Amino acid sequence: DRMTTETSRRVLLAAPRGYCAGVDRAVITVEKALEQYGAPVYVRKQIVHNKYVVQTLEKKGAIFVDETAEVPENAIVIFSAHGVAPVVHEEADRRKLASIDATCPLVTKVHKEAVRFAKDDYDILLIGHEGHEEVIGTMGEAPERTHLVDGPKDVADLVVRDESKVVWLSQTTLSVDETMETVDALKERFPQLLSPPSDDICYATQNRQVAVKQISAESDLVIVVGSRNSSNAIRLVEVALQSGAGASYLVDFADECEDAWLEGVATVGVTSGASVPEILVDQVLEWLAVRGYADVQVVTSAEESIQFSLPKELRRDLRAEA
Ligand code: F3S
Repeated sequence: DRMTTETSRRVLLAAPRGYCAGVDRAVITVEKALEQYGAPVYVRKQIVHNKYVVQTLEKKGAIFVDETAEVPENAIVIFSAHGVAPVVHEEADRRKLASIDATCPLVTKVHKEAVRFAKDDYDILLIGHEGHEEVIGTMGEAPERTHLVDGPKDVADLVVRDESKVVWLSQTTLSVDETMETVDALKERFPQLLSPPSDDICYATQNRQVAVKQISAESDLVIVVGSRNSSNAIRLVEVALQSGAGASYLVDFADECEDAWLEGVATVGVTSGASVPEILVDQVLEWLAVRGYADVQVVTSAEESIQFSLPKELRRDLRAEA
């Protein structure tokens, strides 16, 4: 009856969710650069893949461009968290731009692996999504040696120089389970395939997927807060559906949620991608509370304490000022 349904309505809030250490660092980098050098500060590509973050920084004086060619000479340009190919650094130097590199250190780690394996004469099989900025940046470290593998479908057509010298690396924000399927297909094709020295899929991606799995089995609906171009957020919707959620939707803002989604729904799971500020999650929780889903239980599957120091170019100037 009605009373029972009212009282059984609840929200399971996944933890960890939202900002990872790399996003936090990249956003603070733009804010500090604006304070330190004054507006405008140019940012190549979206600093992180989140609409709200980009809009907020634009209001403070950041100008987002697609290519360094659009940045006036001698201006300051910040490279986004997703990383850039070496040619982008070269171009910035040529144009005498003062660049600040906000590439996540965990992306830089993959770049370094690519450089090292290319030097050791390996062919690199990079698992990732075609066209994603991070993949373009990583491939740029060793363009002749790197082959993009966007899922098991790409495995049959791979041609390498020496089948005994192949290694796989990956984008940092993939689905853990799907990546393992691709790796299995690669191993079948190349039995001597080498694995990366440590996980390329980052801690934040992994933790958010484990957390959404935990709430999904019990959730009739899972709302993921995140932008359409955010790889890790899209994966959370997929993982939610694969892990038993009745339905799952990605929203940038609470006003995109639809009343129809709640029909017959007792338990709503909520989580957010690694580039999503908590205020956007709070607004979704408010939207749900108004509709009778006010009982929020936090389901924690891991604690995170990792933090990265700011880019060294910025730290140097902040120090000089102090
Ligand atoms: Fe870095 Fe992973 Fe976040 S690669 S930017 S910590 S999602």
